[in-house]
Amino acid sequence: MALRFSNTLEEQMMYLAVPIIRDEKLSGVVRTSIPITFIERALRSIEFKIGGVGLAVALMAAGISLMVSRRISRPLEQMKQSAETISRGEWKEPLTVDSDSVEISALSNALNQMALQLEDRIETITSQHNESEAVLSSMVEGVLAVDAEEKVIRLNKAAGKLLDIEPDHVEGRPIEEVVRNSHLREFIERTLSGIENVETDLTIGNQNEIFLQAHGAVLKDILDKSIGAVIVLNDVTRLRRLETVRRDFVANVSHELKTPITLIKGFVETLQQGALENREEAERFLNIMSKQVERLNAIIEDLLSLSRLEQDSGKSEMAMEKTKVTQVLESAIRDCERKAQEKNTSIQLDCPNELEVYANSPLLNQAVLNLVDNALKYSEPGGEIKVEASEIETEIVIAVQDWGCGIDSAHLPRLFERFYRVDQARSRQLGGTGLGLAIVKHIAQAHKGSVSVNSTLGKGSRFSIHLPII
Ligand SMILES: Nc1ncnc2c1ncn2[C@@H]1O[C@H](COP(=O)(O)OP(=O)(O)OP(=O)(O)O)[C@@H](O)[C@H]1O
Ligand SMILES: [Mg+2]
Repeated sequence: MALRFSNTLEEQMMYLAVPIIRDEKLSGVVRTSIPITFIERALRSIEFKIGGVGLAVALMAAGISLMVSRRISRPLEQMKQSAETISRGEWKEPLTVDSDSVEISALSNALNQMALQLEDRIETITSQHNESEAVLSSMVEGVLAVDAEEKVIRLNKAAGKLLDIEPDHVEGRPIEEVVRNSHLREFIERTLSGIENVETDLTIGNQNEIFLQAHGAVLKDILDKSIGAVIVLNDVTRLRRLETVRRDFVANVSHELKTPITLIKGFVETLQQGALENREEAERFLNIMSKQVERLNAIIEDLLSLSRLEQDSGKSEMAMEKTKVTQVLESAIRDCERKAQEKNTSIQLDCPNELEVYANSPLLNQAVLNLVDNALKYSEPGGEIKVEASEIETEIVIAVQDWGCGIDSAHLPRLFERFYRVDQARSRQLGGTGLGLAIVKHIAQAHKGSVSVNSTLGKGSRFSIHLPII
């Protein structure tokens, strides 16, 4: 076979010569030729067909593989989105994927299961957190927890109020930034360093002093490892004040009783030592002694009526009846008439006739009498006093107004305490025991009411008894 250019046909030709052998002898040769272009055309047509089929197969394969990959990747994409929703905590409904693959279905089931459990756990944790939050914030005691680095872990509402700290945004902050009181900081340090529970008394605030009782305990984790300290604060201000009042009361009673007794004892001794011989002097001494005995009697009477009032209001056994307020006020004014005349003072009454209260009239009379007595005692002669009563909102208010010496505002909070007097000497000189206003307060309380005072130094005072409406 040979490829050669044919000069006759003037084109590239393929020649083929096949020898014919007969009886092992060459008997002839068959020769043939064909133009190359013809073969090439035939080959090109074959190549073209093969190319077309190849392309179709490739396209089909691509289509099929796209479909297959879509079927796998769509559920995966859904699961990815679902996982993202779970991680954001926004998971609402279980994921449903349409896939024939057992593995993918199992995976999506596992994802749903995990989401359900996660939701369950989060719910439990949230409700536990809310419960402990509610317990902590409803506690009357202040609770402050710090970690080992003295950073605030928790501070409940009560602690915020007691220590005058905004409880939000303190968590994680160092204690020295949050708590200004150095004693409390020292106490926290002591609690952190100790093994035992500690206890101390603290005073907080300058103007409005409050007394706190602090209990400190080491904060431990479930493995009993110390991780900080917890401080519980109790407001014992009221208790401390009561203690002071009681101590003052005992001291005052002793003092008040001692003064007249000392005087009486002195005069008795003087009389025994011979003053009895001098009748004039003896009479003068006896007069003084009698006055002191009266004073002693007044103090004891007042003390007894106070303790009776306290007992009665505790048991609410007091005899009460519907009473016309005017009658009570008129009777109190009548009792003071002589004293008012002596001081050349007029007492004005302003009370609606129909006004009624549920009261024990002798006691209410005593309360008003005490107020009018004070108004007279602490005003200059020639003035005026007003006794008024009216219904204001849910109360009946009985007020005694004077334009006398008035009281400095510093004294007002303690004015209704037993034996409290603004000017000890002056009040005693005026014959006061300092129990009058305490009695007024107790009478008001025995009627389920209260007392109040408005006063300006040098201008006058207004004392009010507030009683509930029938
Ligand atoms: N109207 C008033 N104006 C000015 N000061 C008053 C007035 N009422 C009371 N006070 C002050 O309050 C103090 C207490 O009054 P309170 O009536 O309890 O005692 P007292 O008048 O001294 O004695 P008493 O037990 O005899 O009434 C008085 O000592 C006085 O300083
Ligand atoms: Mg008085």
